[in-house]
Amino acid sequence: MTTVAEHYANHLGPIYVWMAGGAEAALQAGAAEVDALNLPLAHHAAVLDLGAGFGAHSIPLARRGARVTAIDTSAELLGTLAQLAGNLPIQAVNDDLLAFQSHITQAPSAILCMGDTVTHLPDLGAVESLVESAAAALPPGGVFVVSFRDYSVPLVGDERFIPVRSDDARILTCFLEYEPEAVVVHDILHQLTPQGWQTRVSHYRKLRLPPEHLIASLQSSGFKVRREVGTRGMVRLVAQSV
Ligand SMILES: C[S@@+](CC[C@H](N)C(=O)[O-])C[C@H]1O[C@@H](n2cnc3c(N)ncnc32)[C@H](O)[C@@H]1O
Repeated sequence: MTTVAEHYANHLGPIYVWMAGGAEAALQAGAAEVDALNLPLAHHAAVLDLGAGFGAHSIPLARRGARVTAIDTSAELLGTLAQLAGNLPIQAVNDDLLAFQSHITQAPSAILCMGDTVTHLPDLGAVESLVESAAAALPPGGVFVVSFRDYSVPLVGDERFIPVRSDDARILTCFLEYEPEAVVVHDILHQLTPQGWQTRVSHYRKLRLPPEHLIASLQSSGFKVRREVGTRGMVRLVAQSV
């Protein structure tokens, strides 16, 4: 089984911005989501973006005056983030998001883990550990936002083949294979080359994280939780430290 980091380094990283509909559209969608969150951000507030990718949320946050620490294991996506961010106050950190506490220099006003990143964690124990670390890091009033896909009800038959994006030179399709606690995601990429169409396939595991499980875990760590519908139909949990 390919690890998440290998899957991004060898397969998704180079096409990620394309897959997300292009940088401009993705930054617009990220900005709309940041605005919908209405976060309690004083000027120069510190915000952590865990699994930041190429900055779809980090960049709009920094444009709104936050100082952002963007953590990701993909060096390629962080490189793209740095290019797109220019002089914005974003510190890009190539590390595991579970180690975020070692990169805090100022009490954060908000911690974000968006766009289905949390399901990339290896197991429910790691999710629990993330929740506990977020509860410990945030002062009262601070907000932890997690958006993710609910894979708890399995798709069946042909529904498991999901067209992600296509144009004249690329077709990306996803095939989902369900296990009791995870879903194996197969990303099938067809690319037009001077030699004709080439096909590459890579797969990795994502957690089937029931929203109720994460809500209960957040509540038992002392958060007040609001459930919303996020971008592209994801579950969005907005958890406030009390
Ligand atoms: C689906 S993308 C979401 C990116 C971004 N948050 C967004 O909404 O566009 C997941 C990201 O999480 C990163 N990632 C996955 N597991 C990680 C981990 N344990 N630590 C840090 N980054 C991780 C991947 O490299 C990838 O950039």
